[in-house]
Amino acid sequence: MNGEHDMLVIGTAALDIKVHARSLAIEPELSNPAVIDSSFGGVARNIAENLMRLGSEVSLITAVGSDDAGTQILQQLRDVGIRTDAVIVTEDYNTGAFVGVYQLDKRLRVAFDDMQVIRLITPGYLNQHRRLLRDADVICVDANLSARALETLFRLARENDVPVCADATTPLLAPRLHPFLPELAALAANRAEAEALLGTHFRNEDEVLQGARRLAQLGVGLSIITQGAEGLSYATSDESGRLPAFNVEVVDPVGAGDALTAAVAYGLAEGLPSTEVVRLGLAAAAQTIVCAQTVCPYISLEALYERLVV
Ligand SMILES: Nc1ncnc2c1ncn2[C@@H]1O[C@H](COP(=O)(O)OP(=O)(O)OP(=O)(O)O)[C@@H](O)[C@H]1O
Ligand SMILES: [Mg+2]
Repeated sequence: MNGEHDMLVIGTAALDIKVHARSLAIEPELSNPAVIDSSFGGVARNIAENLMRLGSEVSLITAVGSDDAGTQILQQLRDVGIRTDAVIVTEDYNTGAFVGVYQLDKRLRVAFDDMQVIRLITPGYLNQHRRLLRDADVICVDANLSARALETLFRLARENDVPVCADATTPLLAPRLHPFLPELAALAANRAEAEALLGTHFRNEDEVLQGARRLAQLGVGLSIITQGAEGLSYATSDESGRLPAFNVEVVDPVGAGDALTAAVAYGLAEGLPSTEVVRLGLAAAAQTIVCAQTVCPYISLEALYERLVV
């Protein structure tokens, strides 16, 4: 492995505020005791940081506000070594933000997000930066981009023969990727996102696997449907299967999906066989789950391979 790939990530960077309730019952119209922390998030930003830590050259195309959160996000991106030349800083919108309330059992209870700033990533802006798209080994995208921006992104990727890997992001946003399924080298969706994308409800594990196969039939090179603690189902045009999650102690599962998508994009760039790509993704998810942070600061290719050989 040479580990030196040029990866381009396009999508959101945001401030994540996580509210961890300290009691079992959450009272809706009262202030509830909680541990509240903030970290840098946004699916694309998380993927970019993971890819960086896996040893790639990474450029990020995103937009942030000229507020404190935006300034801090930009600084952190530069500190970890991500190229930020194509990041828009604007006074017109707030920096993207996500607020999630987590129950005592660590499951998400409710969340809000404000990602309006991503509207500034227009077709014109992507065209302006088409050299970045042309020169990437793999382009990774989240589903926050507008339909028109996605159209331009996929056109530029197609013209330059650059594989695109997508994260379905949220059930509300996932359907935006539908028109582009035949153009996706890889897609990672969690169960609810895959249901939204396919307009169906999976009643059991078998149907999840069928869903992954359906996505592959619709043209996705490697489709992955993650199922939290249950692992994932995956499919290509000629193979499919289910793989269990790594058996690790859950410290914080948030960001596991983003790490998985990043590792999948890395595996694509590396030209690994599909099952190896998926296993690398599972290892990245496991590494993230044992970490309190959304992006594990000590994720590395070596750490993932250590998990894979055990
Ligand atoms: N509780 C858990 N125990 C073990 N593994 C888990 C757990 N939650 C997630 N994982 C691992 O992480 C992968 C991705 O998880 P999940 O399906 O929750 O993605 P997601 O909803 O996209 O997460 P996020 O968007 O917060 O990063 C799973 O396929 C699994 O391998
Ligand atoms: Mg996810």
